[in-house]
Amino acid sequence: MGAKQKIYITRRIPQPGIDYLSERFEVEVNPEDRVLRREELLEAVKSADGILCLLTDKIDAEFFDAAQHLKGVANYAVGYDNIDVPEASRRGIPVSNTPGVLTDATAEMAWTLLFSVARRVVESDGLMRSGAWGGWGPLQFIGGDVSGKTLGIVGTGRIGTAMALKSQGFNMKVIYTDIADNPVLDEKCNARRVDFDTLLRESDFISIHVPLMESTRHLFNTDTFKKMKPSAYLINTSRGPVVNEAELVQALKNKELAGAGLDVYENEPAMVDGLADQVNTVLTPHTASATEEARTNMALKAARNLASMLEEGVAPPDCVNKEIL
Ligand code: DGY
Repeated sequence: MGAKQKIYITRRIPQPGIDYLSERFEVEVNPEDRVLRREELLEAVKSADGILCLLTDKIDAEFFDAAQHLKGVANYAVGYDNIDVPEASRRGIPVSNTPGVLTDATAEMAWTLLFSVARRVVESDGLMRSGAWGGWGPLQFIGGDVSGKTLGIVGTGRIGTAMALKSQGFNMKVIYTDIADNPVLDEKCNARRVDFDTLLRESDFISIHVPLMESTRHLFNTDTFKKMKPSAYLINTSRGPVVNEAELVQALKNKELAGAGLDVYENEPAMVDGLADQVNTVLTPHTASATEEARTNMALKAARNLASMLEEGVAPPDCVNKEIL
């Protein structure tokens, strides 16, 4: 039997994914629970046949130049804007992502942010913990109703659709933007596809579910905030750069919208100055998929994708550049 092929995992992921790969390949895992520095990443992949990487790893031409033996890239995320896919395709390297297994977890986090910001949960929690609560008051922590309001979904892929479907328990009206009608939402939520300006104008809650692409970068900016209702809330669990974060802070200060619930940031892990000072925000550290179930299934999915690229030489189930195969 020849030598086993080598896999490099850029940061520890749930063990079932590591075990799956270790049964088949020689596996090395970044021993430290942190993002690899650029030079460490380039060194680590020199002899790798396959890499299991994270959204925090930049996989570009320089990376591929360093990884001379590479036969496949499995991203531990559904979003893959960290990878230069055209460059991978040019080099004949398949790339995979992890769709499907984090859909509900992410939609649930979008709902968590929506309720938390609308009902001022974080501010209220802070008061309770401070010991300064003086007792019930008719004007304390007044937020916004959710039931019966209009939910605007920007992008109705798997996660946007799941977000919208869950709104029916709250009797919400659903409108959405997308390149095509979404028959599931039209049928199950009596939803209406509208143009972007209509969505901005009519929504009480806007939840963003588009991938980061050149066409979606800074989709939300000073102009769009001005078109929103001053009573509306913005929720983002997609990718930070879809929102111009500095302009969001200004819009929040100007009360052009009522609040924002964010799980993702323009320059993670940094936040733009002033964002953390806004009380009408709820901020979580890119943890929308952080449930036991979702993260374990992401690990297994990424591992299976990578194994199929290396073992069978066939298209991995979740290949994002199938055209090369
Ligand atoms: C993804 O999968 O793209 C999320 O951002 C992390 O789970």
